[in-house]
Amino acid sequence: MKMHHVNSMPALCGSDSDDNSSKDSSTGRNSDATPSTMPTRHGSLVGLDHMVDEVTTGVEPHVGYKKVLVTGGAGFIGSHVAEFLLERGDDVVTVDEMNDYYDVRIKENNLQQLRAKYPEEGRLKIFKADICDEDVMSKIFEEEGPTWVCHMAARAGVRPSIQDPYVYIHSNIKGTTHLMELSAKHGVKNFVFASSSSVYGGSKSTFFSEDEVVDNPVSPYAASKKACELLAYTYHHLYNLNISGLRFFTVYGPRGRPDMAPFKFIDRVSRGVEIQQFGDGSSSRDYTFISDIVDGIVRALDRPHPYEVFNLGKGSGTSLKEFIDLVQKHTEKDAVIKVMPDQPGDVPYTCADVSKAHAMLGYKSKVAFEEGIRRTVKWYNGAYNAKELEVCPELQANGMGRAPSMVNLSQTC
Ligand SMILES: NC(=O)c1ccc[n+]([C@@H]2O[C@H](COP(=O)([O-])OP(=O)(O)OC[C@H]3O[C@@H](n4cnc5c(N)ncnc54)[C@H](O)[C@@H]3O)[C@@H](O)[C@H]2O)c1
Repeated sequence: MKMHHVNSMPALCGSDSDDNSSKDSSTGRNSDATPSTMPTRHGSLVGLDHMVDEVTTGVEPHVGYKKVLVTGGAGFIGSHVAEFLLERGDDVVTVDEMNDYYDVRIKENNLQQLRAKYPEEGRLKIFKADICDEDVMSKIFEEEGPTWVCHMAARAGVRPSIQDPYVYIHSNIKGTTHLMELSAKHGVKNFVFASSSSVYGGSKSTFFSEDEVVDNPVSPYAASKKACELLAYTYHHLYNLNISGLRFFTVYGPRGRPDMAPFKFIDRVSRGVEIQQFGDGSSSRDYTFISDIVDGIVRALDRPHPYEVFNLGKGSGTSLKEFIDLVQKHTEKDAVIKVMPDQPGDVPYTCADVSKAHAMLGYKSKVAFEEGIRRTVKWYNGAYNAKELEVCPELQANGMGRAPSMVNLSQTC
């Protein structure tokens, strides 16, 4: 069988050393992926500063070394998670199919940055593969032996899922099911996956809580995430697999997705391109800075709850007007604003109720929205050197389809 690799071309040799913990006492889960050697790194202990605000969570955090499979590792959130785990001493195996939902060079750049920081094959292995590919994924589980899974790969985007639902069913539902099958078979200790706040799509609530019934998804994307949550319960029930589904609320920050509002606003305001403001700008949404999301994901990964769904957001809203004002302030440019009528069904204020994640994971967002925008603009100015931009605004990734190349990243790799 031919294995596809990205830039690292790792040889698929026998499994490295793996987790040095014995059976997880908190969950009773057993693992058939017994470590072959005792690791010398202290792994997850390095990241213990993320446990400072610890509260009673009911599940003891695992603090040993981990070998973690990060799917979607070339993407925005996955590449940050991989970087965090590597920094604290864990080993990471990434799998990403490198699809062209947005400019593939952005994903290649994310992987190149990871590889530059972690040149050793033993610490970071990078595979280019579809998570639905049974042969390749089985081989990765058998030969790499990850016993912790952080599943971030998915087709994202609400509107494109209406145009092409099948690819969402494939990557999101079939892909997640396939990974849970393999995880159950290979004794994975904790399976954490990305769900989405879009499951609340039909809700009229102001604070979205996990208690809410979310049986009315309004897009194939939202339905695919809800389906993953349901299947996750099934895999927990059938195989005792520990699974946590994480509902992210609009994530932004360095390396952010170009089809999302925070990137688009910063990019367009920086270039003097018009942005659209729906309504009077008072509608408010929850935006979460990437480091807070990574913190929440890793907290969930370290705590193998049997089956839970958690909201991960900032926990407070920001109005569209405030958003645009902050982008203007930090880009030092005036926005060209086109005021549009309110979109049908728009609700004035929505945000995540993060009390469950706080109580059970010790999660609390730390980055204020203004600070997040300041850091994102700083990154944008460095990565997207104005002289290198080759942007056609109409062709920019807009959540409505595939994005042609929008920037020349050659200077930033
Ligand atoms: N960014 C947000 O605001 C946000 C909000 C809610 C949920 N999420 C979820 O978080 C996760 C990560 O999102 P992101 O913003 O980093 O998106 P992203 O598009 O940057 O990353 C997802 C990665 O998954 C890969 N992928 C997709 N299908 C695959 C497949 N079949 N096999 C292998 N790789 C595949 C893509 O190539 C991409 O690199 C996704 O599951 C997404 O649905 C993100």
